[in-house]
Amino acid sequence: MSSENACFEHKLENEIAIEPKDWMPEHYRKTLIRQIGQHAHSEIVGMLPEANWLTRAPSLRRKAVLLAKIQDEAGHGMYLYSAAETLGGDRADLYQKLLKGQMKYSSIFNYPTLNWADIGVVGWLVDGAAIVNQVALCRTSYGPYARAMVRICKEESFHQRQGYEAVTALANGSEEQRAMLQDAINRWWWPSLMMFGPNDSESPNSAQSMAWKIKRLSNDELRQKFIDNTVHQVEALGMTIPDPDLKWNEARGHYDHGEIDWEEFMQVIHGNGICNHERIQAKQRAWDEGAWVREAAIAHSNKQQKHVA
Ligand code: ACO
Repeated sequence: MSSENACFEHKLENEIAIEPKDWMPEHYRKTLIRQIGQHAHSEIVGMLPEANWLTRAPSLRRKAVLLAKIQDEAGHGMYLYSAAETLGGDRADLYQKLLKGQMKYSSIFNYPTLNWADIGVVGWLVDGAAIVNQVALCRTSYGPYARAMVRICKEESFHQRQGYEAVTALANGSEEQRAMLQDAINRWWWPSLMMFGPNDSESPNSAQSMAWKIKRLSNDELRQKFIDNTVHQVEALGMTIPDPDLKWNEARGHYDHGEIDWEEFMQVIHGNGICNHERIQAKQRAWDEGAWVREAAIAHSNKQQKHVA
């Protein structure tokens, strides 16, 4: 083992963060650019299903909160693209790979938001699942990613609470509102579980990412945590989970759950979900229509540099 590699391994073993200027194996760098890039894309694409309801939020207060949340997601995407840049990733290149379908983003954002209950459920379940994953990432071995996660988790927990507050209002509302909420839970439950990725036995990247402490908990461990956290919240709302096999397992100290439809997951991550095409089209349009902003920003920056010179 080279002395550089020994130093890298020593840092991992002693919980010392790897920083941008430190030596790191090329595969470690590439794995992080892939994961952080996909994570950034998820934040950016994730703005779309919620933006769909901005103009139709049921009150000014709900609208202001939703707008703030969507702006937060944009900020998260920016932190994450910056973290990828510290590894030598190129923001424009990552973005083009998203548009060309060469990089993934979270499967969850390929499902439609059909009504207002979906917006509450996205805040509660989707951001709730994201937090479980991201709290573990606050201890990821790469310093800039871990630090970005600390800030992002604070904002995500506000998102999750606003989602739960919105669904509580529906749960305490009319029969129609309660039915709308149950329908949204029925549609979002399984896709939320898929957010954690394939089962550990089917996850090609997990073993190496766990060894490098990029991932601290496995896909299945995180999924289990999310289920264990959420069942009581669903019960408190007087709603049900669409899984007849869900039951408390005294011996394991966890909930058992039914089998996830992995065929559906594979279809979605390979571009064939309900909204994949629409999401990429929307991001392509935003890129094309934003050309003048990029040109203006570059012209402004060139002018500033001339002043300095
Ligand atoms: N949606 C889309 N792609 C997924 C998903 C998912 N829910 N789960 C796994 N994949 C992809 C992986 O990115 C990987 O893709 P590849 O072809 O680039 O290798 C492939 O499926 C195999 O999965 P794993 O080997 O388990 O991949 P990995 O070790 O990267 O674990 C995970 C997947 C858990 C999503 C990890 O990348 C991660 O923790 N990412 C950071 C969190 C994140 O991206 N959250 C986004 C949603 S949160 C939000 O935006 C609100």
